Amino acid sequence: MDILEKARQYEKENHVLAEERPAFHAAPPVGWMNDPNGFSVYQDTIHLFYQYYPYGTEWGSMYWGHLKTKDMIRWEDCPAALAPDENYDKDGCFSGSAIETEAGHVLIYTGVSKDETGLHTMQGQCIAVGDGTNYKKIAENPVIRGNMLPCGFSRAHFRDPKVWKCGDTYHMAVGNSDEEGNGQIVLFSGKDVTHWQYEGVLAHNGGTLGRMWECPDFFELDGTYILICSPQDMKAAGYEFHNGHNSLYFLGSYDKEEKRFLKGAPRSLDYGLDFYAAHTTCLPDGRRILIGWMQSWDSNFIPPEQKWKGMITLPRELSVRDGALIQKPIRELEHYRQNKITYQNKTVEGETHFEGICGRLLDLTVEISSGTFDEFSIDLAKDAEHYTRFLINRKKGILEIDRTYSGMIRDVVCIRRAELPEAGRGLKLRFIMDYSSIELFINEGEKVLSTVIYTPLSARGITFGCDGSAVVQLEQYDIEL
Ligand code: FRU
Repeated sequence: MDILEKARQYEKENHVLAEERPAFHAAPPVGWMNDPNGFSVYQDTIHLFYQYYPYGTEWGSMYWGHLKTKDMIRWEDCPAALAPDENYDKDGCFSGSAIETEAGHVLIYTGVSKDETGLHTMQGQCIAVGDGTNYKKIAENPVIRGNMLPCGFSRAHFRDPKVWKCGDTYHMAVGNSDEEGNGQIVLFSGKDVTHWQYEGVLAHNGGTLGRMWECPDFFELDGTYILICSPQDMKAAGYEFHNGHNSLYFLGSYDKEEKRFLKGAPRSLDYGLDFYAAHTTCLPDGRRILIGWMQSWDSNFIPPEQKWKGMITLPRELSVRDGALIQKPIRELEHYRQNKITYQNKTVEGETHFEGICGRLLDLTVEISSGTFDEFSIDLAKDAEHYTRFLINRKKGILEIDRTYSGMIRDVVCIRRAELPEAGRGLKLRFIMDYSSIELFINEGEKVLSTVIYTPLSARGITFGCDGSAVVQLEQYDIEL
Protein backbone atom coordinates (compact mmCIF):
# COMPACT_ATOMS: atom_id res chain seq x y z
CA MET A 1 0.00 0.00 0.00
CA ASP A 2 1.40 3.46 -0.81
CA ILE A 3 2.06 5.82 2.04
CA LEU A 4 -0.89 8.13 1.34
CA GLU A 5 -3.28 5.19 1.28
CA LYS A 6 -1.72 3.88 4.50
CA ALA A 7 -2.30 7.23 6.20
CA ARG A 8 -5.89 7.35 4.96
CA GLN A 9 -6.48 3.90 6.33
CA TYR A 10 -4.85 4.81 9.64
CA GLU A 11 -6.91 7.95 10.15
CA LYS A 12 -10.09 6.03 9.36
CA GLU A 13 -9.28 3.34 11.92
CA ASN A 14 -8.01 5.71 14.62
CA HIS A 15 -10.40 8.60 14.24
CA VAL A 16 -10.88 10.32 17.62
CA LEU A 17 -14.52 10.60 18.70
CA ALA A 18 -16.17 13.91 17.84
CA GLU A 19 -16.99 14.64 21.50
CA GLU A 20 -13.28 14.43 22.38
CA ARG A 21 -12.33 17.04 19.80
CA PRO A 22 -13.20 20.76 19.58
CA ALA A 23 -16.87 21.36 18.75
CA PHE A 24 -16.46 24.07 16.11
CA HIS A 25 -12.73 24.56 15.61
CA ALA A 26 -10.88 22.68 12.88
CA ALA A 27 -8.65 19.94 14.34
CA PRO A 28 -7.07 16.73 13.01
CA PRO A 29 -8.98 13.42 13.15
CA VAL A 30 -5.97 11.95 14.96
CA GLY A 31 -2.34 12.97 15.40
CA TRP A 32 -0.55 16.26 14.99
CA MET A 33 -1.66 19.46 13.22
CA ASN A 34 0.31 22.64 12.66
CA ASP A 35 -0.13 25.39 10.05
CA PRO A 36 -3.35 25.89 8.14
CA ASN A 37 -2.69 25.39 4.40
CA GLY A 38 -4.62 25.79 1.16
CA PHE A 39 -7.59 27.68 2.64
CA SER A 40 -9.64 28.13 -0.53
CA VAL A 41 -12.98 27.82 -2.23
CA TYR A 42 -13.38 25.03 -4.78
CA GLN A 43 -16.71 24.32 -6.46
CA ASP A 44 -18.63 26.35 -3.85
CA THR A 45 -17.16 24.50 -0.88
CA ILE A 46 -14.54 25.90 1.47
CA HIS A 47 -11.49 23.66 1.81
CA LEU A 48 -8.88 23.80 4.51
CA PHE A 49 -5.70 21.72 4.51
CA TYR A 50 -3.14 21.61 7.26
CA GLN A 51 0.31 20.39 8.21
CA TYR A 52 -0.36 16.90 9.48
CA TYR A 53 1.40 13.93 11.01
CA PRO A 54 -1.23 11.24 11.61
CA TYR A 55 0.91 8.78 13.55
CA GLY A 56 1.66 10.73 16.72
CA THR A 57 1.03 13.94 18.61
CA GLU A 58 4.47 15.35 17.78
CA TRP A 59 5.63 17.01 14.57
CA GLY A 60 6.88 14.40 12.04
CA SER A 61 7.31 13.98 8.32
CA MET A 62 4.63 16.31 7.00
CA TYR A 63 1.46 15.27 5.18
CA TRP A 64 -1.41 17.57 4.21
CA GLY A 65 -4.56 16.81 6.21
CA HIS A 66 -7.85 17.97 4.72
CA LEU A 67 -11.17 19.37 5.94
CA LYS A 68 -14.08 20.96 4.15
CA THR A 69 -16.96 23.13 5.27
CA LYS A 70 -19.85 25.21 4.03
CA ASP A 71 -19.80 27.74 6.87
CA MET A 72 -16.42 27.47 8.69
CA ILE A 73 -18.20 26.27 11.87
CA ARG A 74 -19.09 22.69 10.96
CA TRP A 75 -16.00 20.96 9.61
CA GLU A 76 -16.02 17.67 7.74
CA ASP A 77 -12.93 15.46 7.73
CA CYS A 78 -11.67 14.44 4.30
CA PRO A 79 -8.97 11.84 3.62
CA ALA A 80 -5.38 13.11 3.85
CA ALA A 81 -4.54 14.94 0.62
CA LEU A 82 -0.74 14.75 0.28
CA ALA A 83 1.94 12.43 1.62
CA PRO A 84 5.74 12.78 1.44
CA ASP A 85 6.06 10.12 -1.24
CA GLU A 86 8.27 11.59 -3.97
CA ASN A 87 12.02 12.18 -4.05
CA TYR A 88 11.53 15.94 -4.07
CA ASP A 89 9.22 15.91 -1.01
CA LYS A 90 10.36 12.76 0.84
CA ASP A 91 11.18 14.84 3.93
CA GLY A 92 7.87 16.63 4.04
CA CYS A 93 5.05 18.33 2.18
CA PHE A 94 5.39 21.69 3.89
CA SER A 95 2.96 24.59 4.00
CA GLY A 96 1.35 26.30 1.04
CA SER A 97 -1.87 27.49 -0.52
CA ALA A 98 -4.54 26.43 -3.01
CA ILE A 99 -6.46 27.97 -5.87
CA GLU A 100 -9.32 26.94 -8.15
CA THR A 101 -8.35 26.80 -11.85
CA GLU A 102 -9.86 25.33 -14.98
CA ALA A 103 -7.68 22.26 -14.45
CA GLY A 104 -9.17 21.66 -11.00
CA HIS A 105 -8.25 22.41 -7.42
CA VAL A 106 -4.53 23.25 -7.40
CA LEU A 107 -2.45 22.78 -4.25
CA ILE A 108 0.88 24.63 -4.14
CA TYR A 109 3.18 23.37 -1.40
CA THR A 110 6.84 23.16 -0.46
CA GLY A 111 8.57 19.85 -1.16
CA VAL A 112 11.41 19.21 1.28
CA SER A 113 14.24 16.79 0.54
CA LYS A 114 17.52 16.16 2.30
CA ASP A 115 20.59 14.74 0.58
CA GLU A 116 22.13 11.41 1.64
CA THR A 117 24.27 13.06 4.33
CA GLY A 118 21.18 14.60 5.87
CA LEU A 119 23.11 17.86 6.18
CA HIS A 120 21.76 19.67 3.13
CA THR A 121 18.09 20.43 2.72
CA MET A 122 16.42 21.58 -0.48
CA GLN A 123 13.06 23.27 -0.49
CA GLY A 124 11.17 23.75 -3.75
CA GLN A 125 7.63 24.70 -4.70
CA CYS A 126 5.42 21.90 -5.99
CA ILE A 127 1.96 21.43 -7.46
CA ALA A 128 -0.77 18.83 -7.03
CA VAL A 129 -4.06 19.03 -8.92
CA GLY A 130 -7.27 17.42 -7.76
CA ASP A 131 -11.03 17.22 -7.57
CA GLY A 132 -11.59 18.22 -3.93
CA THR A 133 -10.75 14.74 -2.60
CA ASN A 134 -7.86 13.21 -4.53
CA TYR A 135 -4.80 15.16 -5.64
CA LYS A 136 -2.10 14.18 -8.11
CA LYS A 137 1.39 15.64 -8.01
CA ILE A 138 2.45 16.83 -11.46
CA ALA A 139 5.43 15.50 -13.41
CA GLU A 140 7.12 18.94 -13.64
CA ASN A 141 7.64 19.18 -9.84
CA PRO A 142 9.28 21.08 -8.27
CA VAL A 143 7.96 23.87 -10.50
CA ILE A 144 10.19 26.36 -8.66
CA ARG A 145 13.62 25.23 -7.53
CA GLY A 146 16.07 27.06 -5.31
CA ASN A 147 18.36 27.71 -8.28
CA MET A 148 15.77 30.14 -9.67
CA LEU A 149 16.60 32.44 -6.76
CA PRO A 150 19.42 35.02 -6.97
CA CYS A 151 22.83 33.84 -5.83
CA GLY A 152 23.18 33.77 -2.05
CA PHE A 153 19.48 33.47 -1.23
CA SER A 154 18.83 30.37 0.88
CA ARG A 155 17.70 27.19 -0.90
CA ALA A 156 17.17 25.46 2.43
CA HIS A 157 14.79 28.13 3.76
CA PHE A 158 12.51 28.70 0.82
CA ARG A 159 8.97 27.73 1.71
CA ASP A 160 5.26 28.32 2.20
CA PRO A 161 4.09 29.59 -1.22
CA LYS A 162 0.97 31.77 -1.27
CA VAL A 163 -0.58 31.97 -4.73
CA TRP A 164 -3.21 34.38 -6.03
CA LYS A 165 -4.39 35.45 -9.46
CA CYS A 166 -4.66 39.00 -10.74
CA GLY A 167 -6.08 39.44 -14.27
CA ASP A 168 -4.55 36.58 -16.22
CA THR A 169 -1.34 36.37 -14.16
CA TYR A 170 -0.61 34.14 -11.20
CA HIS A 171 1.52 35.54 -8.39
CA MET A 172 3.34 33.70 -5.67
CA ALA A 173 4.90 35.03 -2.44
CA VAL A 174 7.37 32.67 -0.75
CA GLY A 175 9.21 32.86 2.59
CA ASN A 176 12.99 32.94 2.30
CA SER A 177 16.15 34.11 4.00
CA ASP A 178 19.06 36.05 2.50
CA GLU A 179 22.81 35.40 2.69
CA GLU A 180 22.93 36.67 6.31
CA GLY A 181 19.94 34.58 7.39
CA ASN A 182 17.61 37.60 7.45
CA GLY A 183 13.96 37.03 6.62
CA GLN A 184 12.51 38.13 3.31
CA ILE A 185 9.57 37.42 1.05
CA VAL A 186 10.33 36.69 -2.60
CA LEU A 187 7.90 37.06 -5.46
CA PHE A 188 7.28 34.96 -8.58
CA SER A 189 4.79 35.28 -11.41
CA GLY A 190 3.49 32.98 -14.11
CA LYS A 191 0.89 32.71 -16.85
CA ASP A 192 -0.05 29.29 -15.51
CA VAL A 193 0.69 27.42 -12.29
CA THR A 194 3.50 25.35 -13.81
CA HIS A 195 5.79 27.98 -15.35
CA TRP A 196 7.11 30.68 -13.03
CA GLN A 197 9.65 33.43 -13.15
CA TYR A 198 11.42 35.19 -10.33
CA GLU A 199 10.28 38.79 -9.86
CA GLY A 200 12.16 40.16 -6.86
CA VAL A 201 12.11 40.71 -3.12
CA LEU A 202 8.66 41.86 -2.04
CA ALA A 203 9.78 42.69 1.51
CA HIS A 204 12.85 42.26 3.69
CA ASN A 205 13.19 42.34 7.46
CA GLY A 206 16.04 44.87 7.40
CA GLY A 207 18.04 42.83 9.91
CA THR A 208 15.32 43.11 12.56
CA LEU A 209 12.11 41.23 13.40
CA GLY A 210 13.43 37.72 13.81
CA ARG A 211 15.16 35.49 11.29
CA MET A 212 13.44 33.40 8.61
CA TRP A 213 10.03 34.78 7.57
CA GLU A 214 7.57 31.91 7.25
CA CYS A 215 4.05 31.67 5.83
CA PRO A 216 3.67 34.90 3.85
CA ASP A 217 0.33 36.25 2.66
CA PHE A 218 -0.17 39.40 0.62
CA PHE A 219 -3.42 41.09 -0.44
CA GLU A 220 -5.26 44.35 -0.85
CA LEU A 221 -8.00 45.20 1.61
CA ASP A 222 -10.07 48.38 1.92
CA GLY A 223 -7.63 50.27 -0.32
CA THR A 224 -4.49 49.24 1.57
CA TYR A 225 -1.96 46.49 0.92
CA ILE A 226 -1.31 44.05 3.74
CA LEU A 227 1.60 41.70 4.19
CA ILE A 228 1.30 38.90 6.72
CA CYS A 229 4.22 36.74 7.76
CA SER A 230 5.41 34.61 10.65
CA PRO A 231 9.01 35.44 11.62
CA GLN A 232 10.94 32.86 13.60
CA ASP A 233 13.11 33.69 16.61
CA MET A 234 11.82 37.14 17.53
CA LYS A 235 12.82 39.03 20.65
CA ALA A 236 10.03 40.47 22.75
CA ALA A 237 9.66 44.26 22.75
CA GLY A 238 7.50 45.73 25.51
CA TYR A 239 4.23 43.81 25.39
CA GLU A 240 4.79 42.81 21.75
CA PHE A 241 6.17 39.65 20.14
CA HIS A 242 6.23 37.33 23.16
CA ASN A 243 5.71 34.02 21.34
CA GLY A 244 9.27 33.61 20.04
CA HIS A 245 7.87 32.70 16.64
CA ASN A 246 5.22 35.37 15.99
CA SER A 247 2.62 36.15 13.38
CA LEU A 248 2.73 39.76 12.18
CA TYR A 249 1.06 42.08 9.74
CA PHE A 250 2.16 45.27 8.03
CA LEU A 251 -0.07 47.79 6.30
CA GLY A 252 1.61 49.56 3.42
CA SER A 253 1.66 50.39 -0.25
CA TYR A 254 2.76 48.34 -3.20
CA ASP A 255 5.12 49.65 -5.85
CA LYS A 256 3.93 47.59 -8.82
CA GLU A 257 6.85 48.67 -11.05
CA GLU A 258 9.52 47.68 -8.55
CA LYS A 259 7.42 44.76 -7.18
CA ARG A 260 8.19 46.05 -3.73
CA PHE A 261 5.97 46.41 -0.70
CA LEU A 262 6.60 49.61 1.31
CA LYS A 263 5.73 48.43 4.74
CA GLY A 264 4.53 50.34 7.77
CA ALA A 265 5.21 49.35 11.37
CA PRO A 266 5.00 45.65 12.36
CA ARG A 267 1.98 44.66 14.41
CA SER A 268 0.97 41.47 16.15
CA LEU A 269 -1.98 39.58 14.74
CA ASP A 270 -2.73 38.02 18.11
CA TYR A 271 -1.73 38.64 21.73
CA GLY A 272 -2.68 35.30 23.25
CA LEU A 273 -0.50 32.36 24.20
CA ASP A 274 -1.23 30.26 21.11
CA PHE A 275 -1.13 31.69 17.63
CA TYR A 276 1.10 31.21 14.57
CA ALA A 277 1.23 30.76 10.79
CA ALA A 278 -1.73 32.98 9.87
CA HIS A 279 -3.22 32.37 6.42
CA THR A 280 -6.14 34.02 4.56
CA THR A 281 -8.56 33.45 1.74
CA CYS A 282 -11.05 35.65 -0.05
CA LEU A 283 -14.61 34.31 -0.17
CA PRO A 284 -16.88 34.75 -3.20
CA ASP A 285 -18.88 37.36 -1.22
CA GLY A 286 -15.71 39.49 -0.95
CA ARG A 287 -14.86 38.82 2.70
CA ARG A 288 -11.16 38.32 3.47
CA ILE A 289 -10.99 35.60 6.13
CA LEU A 290 -7.98 34.92 8.34
CA ILE A 291 -7.16 31.79 10.30
CA GLY A 292 -4.10 30.73 12.27
CA TRP A 293 -2.68 27.69 14.01
CA MET A 294 -3.93 27.98 17.60
CA GLN A 295 -0.76 26.76 19.20
CA SER A 296 2.66 28.15 19.94
CA TRP A 297 5.66 26.15 18.75
CA ASP A 298 7.23 26.32 22.21
CA SER A 299 4.20 25.93 24.42
CA ASN A 300 2.48 22.88 23.10
CA PHE A 301 1.52 20.72 26.03
CA ILE A 302 -1.53 18.46 25.78
CA PRO A 303 -3.00 16.02 28.29
CA PRO A 304 -1.05 12.74 27.90
CA GLU A 305 -4.08 10.63 26.97
CA GLN A 306 -5.20 12.98 24.16
CA LYS A 307 -4.76 11.46 20.68
CA TRP A 308 -4.93 14.70 18.68
CA LYS A 309 -2.97 17.92 18.99
CA GLY A 310 -3.33 21.28 17.29
CA MET A 311 -6.32 23.41 16.33
CA ILE A 312 -7.10 26.18 13.90
CA THR A 313 -8.54 29.43 15.24
CA LEU A 314 -12.08 30.51 14.59
CA PRO A 315 -11.99 32.18 11.16
CA ARG A 316 -11.92 35.98 11.39
CA GLU A 317 -13.35 38.59 9.05
CA LEU A 318 -10.77 41.24 8.25
CA SER A 319 -11.18 44.95 7.61
CA VAL A 320 -9.03 48.05 8.00
CA ARG A 321 -10.05 50.80 10.41
CA ASP A 322 -8.02 53.83 11.49
CA GLY A 323 -4.81 52.39 10.08
CA ALA A 324 -5.13 49.04 11.84
CA LEU A 325 -6.38 45.58 10.95
CA ILE A 326 -9.71 44.69 12.55
CA GLN A 327 -10.47 41.00 13.09
CA LYS A 328 -14.00 39.88 13.92
CA PRO A 329 -15.35 36.37 14.48
CA ILE A 330 -17.02 35.12 11.30
CA ARG A 331 -20.68 36.03 11.30
CA GLU A 332 -21.67 32.39 10.57
CA LEU A 333 -21.10 31.68 14.27
CA GLU A 334 -24.25 33.66 15.00
CA HIS A 335 -26.38 30.94 13.34
CA TYR A 336 -25.40 28.59 16.15
CA ARG A 337 -26.19 30.91 19.07
CA GLN A 338 -28.92 29.69 21.42
CA ASN A 339 -30.31 30.50 24.87
CA LYS A 340 -29.59 34.21 24.95
CA ILE A 341 -29.10 35.67 28.43
CA THR A 342 -28.51 39.38 28.96
CA TYR A 343 -27.89 41.59 31.97
CA GLN A 344 -28.04 45.38 31.69
CA ASN A 345 -26.25 47.89 33.94
CA LYS A 346 -25.25 45.43 36.61
CA THR A 347 -22.74 46.34 39.25
CA VAL A 348 -19.72 44.17 39.97
CA GLU A 349 -18.17 44.68 43.41
CA GLY A 350 -15.88 42.05 44.90
CA GLU A 351 -16.53 38.57 43.51
CA THR A 352 -19.81 38.45 41.60
CA HIS A 353 -21.70 35.72 39.80
CA PHE A 354 -24.70 36.18 37.52
CA GLU A 355 -27.37 33.49 37.33
CA GLY A 356 -27.11 31.51 34.07
CA ILE A 357 -23.75 32.97 33.02
CA CYS A 358 -21.69 29.80 32.66
CA GLY A 359 -20.73 27.07 30.18
CA ARG A 360 -17.96 25.80 27.94
CA LEU A 361 -19.34 26.32 24.42
CA LEU A 362 -20.06 30.00 24.57
CA ASP A 363 -20.19 33.34 22.87
CA LEU A 364 -20.06 35.81 25.78
CA THR A 365 -19.76 39.57 25.54
CA VAL A 366 -18.84 41.60 28.62
CA GLU A 367 -19.02 45.34 28.27
CA ILE A 368 -17.57 47.46 31.04
CA SER A 369 -19.30 50.78 30.58
CA SER A 370 -18.19 52.71 33.67
CA GLY A 371 -16.85 52.32 37.19
CA THR A 372 -14.15 53.17 39.67
CA PHE A 373 -11.60 50.42 39.96
CA ASP A 374 -8.02 49.48 39.24
CA GLU A 375 -8.54 45.79 38.63
CA PHE A 376 -11.40 43.88 37.05
CA SER A 377 -11.26 40.14 36.40
CA ILE A 378 -13.27 37.54 34.53
CA ASP A 379 -12.72 33.90 35.45
CA LEU A 380 -13.85 31.36 32.85
CA ALA A 381 -13.97 27.53 32.88
CA LYS A 382 -14.09 27.65 36.65
CA ASP A 383 -14.64 25.14 39.44
CA ALA A 384 -13.12 24.75 42.90
CA GLU A 385 -9.72 23.87 41.39
CA HIS A 386 -9.63 25.57 38.00
CA TYR A 387 -10.11 28.88 36.24
CA THR A 388 -8.68 30.85 33.35
CA ARG A 389 -8.40 34.49 34.37
CA PHE A 390 -8.61 37.62 32.24
CA LEU A 391 -7.46 40.52 34.39
CA ILE A 392 -7.79 44.14 33.44
CA ASN A 393 -5.36 46.45 35.17
CA ARG A 394 -6.44 50.00 34.41
CA LYS A 395 -3.46 51.62 36.13
CA LYS A 396 -1.02 49.72 33.94
CA GLY A 397 -3.32 49.85 30.93
CA ILE A 398 -3.05 46.14 30.31
CA LEU A 399 -5.10 42.99 30.06
CA GLU A 400 -3.50 39.83 31.38
CA ILE A 401 -4.48 36.25 30.69
CA ASP A 402 -3.52 33.60 33.24
CA ARG A 403 -4.10 29.90 32.50
CA THR A 404 -2.02 28.53 35.39
CA TYR A 405 -5.13 26.73 36.69
CA SER A 406 -6.42 25.55 33.32
CA GLY A 407 -5.39 21.90 33.41
CA MET A 408 -1.65 22.38 32.86
CA ILE A 409 0.53 19.66 34.35
CA ARG A 410 3.73 20.78 32.69
CA ASP A 411 5.96 23.84 32.95
CA VAL A 412 4.29 25.77 30.14
CA VAL A 413 3.96 29.52 29.65
CA CYS A 414 0.72 30.56 31.34
CA ILE A 415 0.68 34.35 31.52
CA ARG A 416 0.62 36.92 28.76
CA ARG A 417 -0.20 40.62 28.79
CA ALA A 418 -1.46 42.97 26.12
CA GLU A 419 -1.81 46.72 26.13
CA LEU A 420 -5.40 47.84 26.27
CA PRO A 421 -6.85 50.41 23.91
CA GLU A 422 -6.46 53.88 25.43
CA ALA A 423 -8.08 54.45 28.82
CA GLY A 424 -11.27 56.46 29.01
CA ARG A 425 -13.09 54.42 26.38
CA GLY A 426 -15.49 51.67 27.38
CA LEU A 427 -14.21 48.14 26.98
CA LYS A 428 -16.08 45.43 25.10
CA LEU A 429 -14.75 41.89 25.51
CA ARG A 430 -16.16 39.08 23.39
CA PHE A 431 -15.08 35.60 24.49
CA ILE A 432 -15.55 32.64 22.15
CA MET A 433 -15.10 29.40 24.07
CA ASP A 434 -14.76 25.91 22.66
CA TYR A 435 -13.93 22.87 24.82
CA SER A 436 -10.16 23.48 24.71
CA SER A 437 -9.77 27.11 23.74
CA ILE A 438 -10.70 30.70 24.50
CA GLU A 439 -10.47 33.47 21.92
CA LEU A 440 -10.98 37.01 23.15
CA PHE A 441 -11.91 39.79 20.72
CA ILE A 442 -11.41 43.24 22.26
CA ASN A 443 -13.53 46.21 21.12
CA GLU A 444 -15.04 44.63 17.99
CA GLY A 445 -11.76 43.13 16.83
CA GLU A 446 -9.13 45.78 17.64
CA LYS A 447 -7.07 43.09 19.35
CA VAL A 448 -7.43 39.32 19.63
CA LEU A 449 -5.99 36.89 22.18
CA SER A 450 -6.13 33.16 21.41
CA THR A 451 -5.29 30.58 24.02
CA VAL A 452 -5.55 26.85 24.48
CA ILE A 453 -6.78 25.47 27.81
CA TYR A 454 -7.11 21.88 28.98
CA THR A 455 -9.47 22.41 31.88
CA PRO A 456 -11.82 19.47 32.61
CA LEU A 457 -15.15 20.04 30.87
CA SER A 458 -16.99 19.92 34.19
CA ALA A 459 -15.43 23.32 35.06
CA ARG A 460 -18.17 25.54 33.64
CA GLY A 461 -18.34 28.45 36.07
CA ILE A 462 -17.86 32.12 35.27
CA THR A 463 -17.30 34.79 37.92
CA PHE A 464 -16.37 38.45 37.88
CA GLY A 465 -14.16 40.30 40.33
CA CYS A 466 -13.52 43.98 40.94
CA ASP A 467 -11.45 45.86 43.52
CA GLY A 468 -13.84 48.82 43.29
CA SER A 469 -17.13 49.01 41.48
CA ALA A 470 -17.84 48.51 37.78
CA VAL A 471 -20.99 48.67 35.70
CA VAL A 472 -21.30 45.92 33.11
CA GLN A 473 -23.58 44.71 30.32
CA LEU A 474 -23.55 40.99 29.60
CA GLU A 475 -24.76 39.02 26.60
CA GLN A 476 -24.29 35.26 26.56
CA TYR A 477 -25.20 32.57 24.04
CA ASP A 478 -24.55 28.85 24.09
CA ILE A 479 -23.05 27.58 20.86
CA GLU A 480 -25.11 24.59 19.75
CA LEU A 481 -24.25 22.60 16.68
C1 FRU B 1 5.54 27.11 10.16
C2 FRU B 1 6.36 26.05 9.44
C3 FRU B 1 6.42 26.34 7.95
C4 FRU B 1 6.64 24.99 7.37
C5 FRU B 1 5.83 24.11 8.26
C6 FRU B 1 6.40 22.75 8.49
O1 FRU B 1 4.99 26.70 11.36
O2 FRU B 1 7.62 25.94 10.02
O3 FRU B 1 7.40 27.28 7.58
O4 FRU B 1 6.22 24.94 6.03
O5 FRU B 1 5.71 24.78 9.50
O6 FRU B 1 5.50 21.93 9.16
